Amino acid sequence: MHLTNEQEELLENGRFGERKAMEILCALGDIFGADRLVPISSAHVSGVSYKTIGDAGIEFLTDMSQGTRVKARTTANPIAMDRQRWKEMGIPEGFAQKQMEIVALYEKMGVEESWTCTPYLAGNRPSRGDIIAWAESSAVAFVNSVIGARTNREGGPSALASALTGLTPRYGLHVDDNRKATVIVDVSSPLKGKDFASLGCIVGEFAKDGIPYFRGLSASEDELKSLGAALASTGSIPLFHIEDVTPEHSNAVTDRLERIDVDRKDLDEKADELSSDEEPDLVAIGCPHLSMKELEELASIRETKRKGTEIWLCTSRHVYGQAKDLLNRLESVGKVLCDTCMVVCPIEERSGVVATDSGKAAFYLPKFCSQKVVFDDVESIMRRFL
Ligand code: F3S
Repeated sequence: MHLTNEQEELLENGRFGERKAMEILCALGDIFGADRLVPISSAHVSGVSYKTIGDAGIEFLTDMSQGTRVKARTTANPIAMDRQRWKEMGIPEGFAQKQMEIVALYEKMGVEESWTCTPYLAGNRPSRGDIIAWAESSAVAFVNSVIGARTNREGGPSALASALTGLTPRYGLHVDDNRKATVIVDVSSPLKGKDFASLGCIVGEFAKDGIPYFRGLSASEDELKSLGAALASTGSIPLFHIEDVTPEHSNAVTDRLERIDVDRKDLDEKADELSSDEEPDLVAIGCPHLSMKELEELASIRETKRKGTEIWLCTSRHVYGQAKDLLNRLESVGKVLCDTCMVVCPIEERSGVVATDSGKAAFYLPKFCSQKVVFDDVESIMRRFL
């Protein structure tokens, strides 16, 4: 991979974090055949929850942050607790201190106090064609597909390396030809509610790391958020197209492609497969983090006589700030938690069965958090627990 003199200098004589960052980017560029490094307009880093990265992660961030600051606008994924309500979440003091050490290290490097998987709803919204370096698979799927920005599916270290240098290797989804569809998905039933998550789980399993092109689908931005998160969970899908909906759909199909059909029976079977018959001891909505519109819908629920089971509504601190007028109403529906989510917090310490409408959460909670899941529409879940 070609480096400019300035980039060579950073690699040889930069500060510790800059040298490490350049080493990571050069190694990735060489592996994936990048021709050069290109400037980014924003980064989004993952690897911020103490539950996920532990003490080894704190050590890595301590080293990387020595005298180094981000060179592009950078937001970060959810942490393991709400920074204000962590005691209510049952988080032990020692754990909270470790988490705040991680927060402080990122802030020292100039990362914004964002702590959300939906940075595109929290002020860091790229434009079509922007070159960015984002981690967080659901956000990658959203910005590539719904906005038409360009990022590979970065991991925590490579996104941080891009943040600290303002650069990313040009390969993969930064190249036009690699953004074409690899499989056509014909959806033959109208979708609503949890169907988008079920569809994402089905197609993610089938297409793996490919690029699906959906036909017969119309969807709101929130439904696309849910679809993309599920696609990126059961598969590693970084980009999808929807005919007549997403910005790059018109040039996405070039060859004769493999085709699959998804109908009502497939969607219902997938929903059954994701769900158990156990009695939930926690309801967790907001994976990915809830948008303002979703909070408004939740706030409009009339009957709010809680039946005892705790309800979490997870959103970003940014959207929470916009929802000030709704908070009383929302708090009668559930506990509004910011900065965190059901998967990256230590949920296994307080719960065993979680009800959720999220395909991503339904996929990850059993795998990484020892939880059983009840998967259903938000409306049905709320009817059952309010
Ligand atoms: Fe976001 Fe947590 Fe889901 S990071 S996408 S709410 S697993």
